[in-house]
Amino acid sequence: MIEPNEVRRAFQNLYGTEPRLFRAPGRVNLIGEHTDYNDGFVMPMAINRDTVVAARARKDRRVRIHTFNLNETVEFDLDHPGPGGRRHWLDYVEGVAQSLLRRGTQLRGADLALKSDVPEGAGLSSSAALEISVGLALSSVSEVAIDKVQLALAGQQAEHEFVGAKVGIMDQYIAALGRAGHALLIDCRSLQPTLIPMNLPDTAIAICNTRVKHELASSEYNARRAECERGVELLHEVLPDVRALRDVSVAEFEQYQDLLPEPVKRRCRHIVTENARTLAAADALKAGNLREMGRLMYQSHESLRDDYEVSCTELDLLVNIARTIEGVAGARMTGGGFGGCTVNLVHRDNLQTFQEKISNDYQSKIGHPPFIYVSEAVNGAEEVMGKDEG
Ligand code: GLA
Repeated sequence: MIEPNEVRRAFQNLYGTEPRLFRAPGRVNLIGEHTDYNDGFVMPMAINRDTVVAARARKDRRVRIHTFNLNETVEFDLDHPGPGGRRHWLDYVEGVAQSLLRRGTQLRGADLALKSDVPEGAGLSSSAALEISVGLALSSVSEVAIDKVQLALAGQQAEHEFVGAKVGIMDQYIAALGRAGHALLIDCRSLQPTLIPMNLPDTAIAICNTRVKHELASSEYNARRAECERGVELLHEVLPDVRALRDVSVAEFEQYQDLLPEPVKRRCRHIVTENARTLAAADALKAGNLREMGRLMYQSHESLRDDYEVSCTELDLLVNIARTIEGVAGARMTGGGFGGCTVNLVHRDNLQTFQEKISNDYQSKIGHPPFIYVSEAVNGAEEVMGKDEG
């Protein structure tokens, strides 16, 4: 986690005034992958890596924002939006400001400075942490109370309209609404969360970063979305109430699957079974049933690898190594796929061995070790009171 006082001091040096401080975390998804844009269920938790934003309102309509990660400052005008699609971090921050304005949030100009330790391009949602922390900071210093679900939707809209990524709602939702000690079972149709206590006292959540990101990620993401939509069109002919794959039960899928061509059939099978697994996993986690939770995670990985085809050699290798290590209850790829991270349930007594074995075996095949992070579930976006010193 970023130390808020560090950002406060840096802000004071930069702008010569006293800021307010805000933060939003990255996330790991325990289960429920690629289900969010099918109106389905996901179960992420917020992790102990975050973006801290220091902010203070200005008298004019300009937003000036400095990042200590890149030592770079950008500026924009709230009344004259830029073009978007610039492939620059400005797209995320200006995008969220414009989305908030379009939702009727009366933003004022502001000076901001931020620092983040959410690894970039690792599938842990550094961009959602950026959008949500900046969105909360801008609305708060403008003295508007913002509903956290609206904040998440504004972040998603920034991705759709400014960044050009047709993402689901999961990442922004958990960055905005995560709760310490809990995973969130999110119904991505109603946008209702159910808090699921992380009832696993002896178990650590270990995240292994492949440190690769394959080119395919965004084009294949859009292709999968289109394949799911095709499946809905075809299933709608026999199941007229189906609006999204969320509406198809496993039994209905089995009955009508032969109406679907390949690869649409396998894509739909993943979504339909993944929704069922996610609901079952929420029950297992609540009950502290580690074995069941782990079994569902392995199944989820296989389904993402074979049916949805969004895994890759590096992710499969990490899961296969994890399977051989004592004290590992479950492992799977997490996030969009084609690189990024796996999430693992590891008994705390075995954590050291886990880290050593994963590192050595992965490095010997891939040529570099993975990065490994261990995280509790932390809170979503909030204002933080960096203590005044002296
Ligand atoms: C990315 C997207 C999410 C979700 C996942 C896959 O992280 O931003 O909306 O679709 O991929 O589960």
